Amino acid sequence: MQQPERVMRAIHAMKERGSSKLQVISDFDMTLSRFGCNGRRCPTSHNILDNSRVISEDGKKKLKDLLHHYYPIEIDPNRTLEEKRPLMVEWWTRAHELLAQQKIQKGDIAQIVRESDVMLRDGFTELFDQLHKHSVPMFIFSAGVGDILEEIIRQANVFYPNVNVVSNYMDFDDSGVLTRFKDPLIHTYNKNNSVLQGTAYFQQLSTRTSIILLGDSMGDLTMADGVPSVENILKIGFLNDKVEERREKYLDAYDIVLESDETLDVVNGILRYIL
Ligand code: C5P
Ligand code: MG
Repeated sequence: MQQPERVMRAIHAMKERGSSKLQVISDFDMTLSRFGCNGRRCPTSHNILDNSRVISEDGKKKLKDLLHHYYPIEIDPNRTLEEKRPLMVEWWTRAHELLAQQKIQKGDIAQIVRESDVMLRDGFTELFDQLHKHSVPMFIFSAGVGDILEEIIRQANVFYPNVNVVSNYMDFDDSGVLTRFKDPLIHTYNKNNSVLQGTAYFQQLSTRTSIILLGDSMGDLTMADGVPSVENILKIGFLNDKVEERREKYLDAYDIVLESDETLDVVNGILRYIL
């Protein structure tokens, strides 16, 4: 924390305002899901599809090449957001086109998720249970694949009615085969009002003026920008990768930065105090 007093003040103010004023806005991949497990990288919702048995060897190779080319750009602290944005659109567009060529069946999604190595961060049950119990809305805003991430939280038995997701959703034809992804395209650096306009759910949240924001990317910082009247916001960031190079920027941007922490303990502790 760069400003522990600010953090304390925000937490106290949120407790005072109470649960009826609180909402949680969270990223999904590498924030609610784990970055590493058993010394290996855990998959993102896209990676779950990329690595699955329904993708041809040639498709797998092309998707991996895209990842190796664009991921270093995504997390490069020396490039501006303006530089990154068109390149991210390029990555997502090319990956979605490749996925749409693979004849992925809607009916296979649940099995693909079951067979993957994905893991949610330790403490996810407590996080979702606490929010559900106190009727606090949890808004998951993800540049990943909505169908996949919804299946992950469904299989983890935490897809409660207070959880709402905005993400990239697959479009299937009448026989249940993936043909394209629906608009608008959400990538790492347009997670803001520009893609939320018109989503009724987000408007409903305008009275929830205490916000806990969870993310792992510099692009996640704008996820609450559409909320009209923010009284108190606490931004908690997981710094997963390129830690030394990115620490300073993360400390400037997030109120709390978590390193080498595959748990949700910090946010659970704060919620236990507030709720
Ligand atoms: O849920 P979240 O917004 O974090 O999802 C986006 C993440 O998915 C990005 O951080 C990016 O690294 C990853 N990604 C991927 N394969 C793609 C596109 C994005 O693994 N084709
Ligand atoms: Mg993420």
